[in-house]
Amino acid sequence: MQHLKTWIDRNVLSGSHMMAAPDLDTLAAVMPGHRRIIEVGCYCGALTRLFTLFGERVWSVDWLIGDDAAGHYSTAEVEAIYRENNAESLASGQLELLKMSSAEGAAELARRGVTADLIWIDAGHEYPDVSADIKNYLPLLAPGGIMCGHDAGAFEGVTQAVDELLPGSLYYPQTVWLWHEGLPALGPECDVRFEMHIVPMRQAMITVGARA
Ligand SMILES: C[S@@+](CC[C@H](N)C(=O)[O-])C[C@H]1O[C@@H](n2cnc3c(N)ncnc32)[C@H](O)[C@@H]1O
Repeated sequence: MQHLKTWIDRNVLSGSHMMAAPDLDTLAAVMPGHRRIIEVGCYCGALTRLFTLFGERVWSVDWLIGDDAAGHYSTAEVEAIYRENNAESLASGQLELLKMSSAEGAAELARRGVTADLIWIDAGHEYPDVSADIKNYLPLLAPGGIMCGHDAGAFEGVTQAVDELLPGSLYYPQTVWLWHEGLPALGPECDVRFEMHIVPMRQAMITVGARA
């Protein structure tokens, strides 16, 4: 038996991802069994490493210029880190980086007929970004697949888009949301009430769980 925490520490490269420990635990727990994975928003490719440990084929989509939430960064520097973090899987063809906007990435993958059984959404965090990503990538979700993402509750745009477009999504503290076809929306008494949205981003604690 391997301790999840140690396993993650060894397999996700440190210092270059934006995931709090509980969110990494969640992701590692939901990932087994998913073979074709699309990662929307990869940054330095630390999570990508986790995805390639489970997936047979992984596509990362990122324009690698950053955004208002992640911050704007040097494309060359971040791409070099991404490529170093994932050198083996890129070389073997298991992993592909689509360096383009998330909308262009969805169109390109659709053009190729790619579908995935896990789609991770963590690119733009404003409502129009997240809703466009959900709409654009949902058609690429294979039957029985899961769509999930980061920063529910932490960013109002994420929370609003997921609530509107994917009712019944499950919330995994700290900030992971997860949806698959057939999840029942149980009603307002089961909805998470986020007491605070992070403004400015990433600086506030999230308090959740209060029921209506
Ligand atoms: C929050 S970071 C991703 C962090 C990554 N999941 C991790 O934990 O290491 C968001 C990334 O999405 C990318 N991004 C934001 N909006 C995008 C868009 N419209 N198209 C493509 N990439 C986008 C940014 O360049 C940034 O690298």
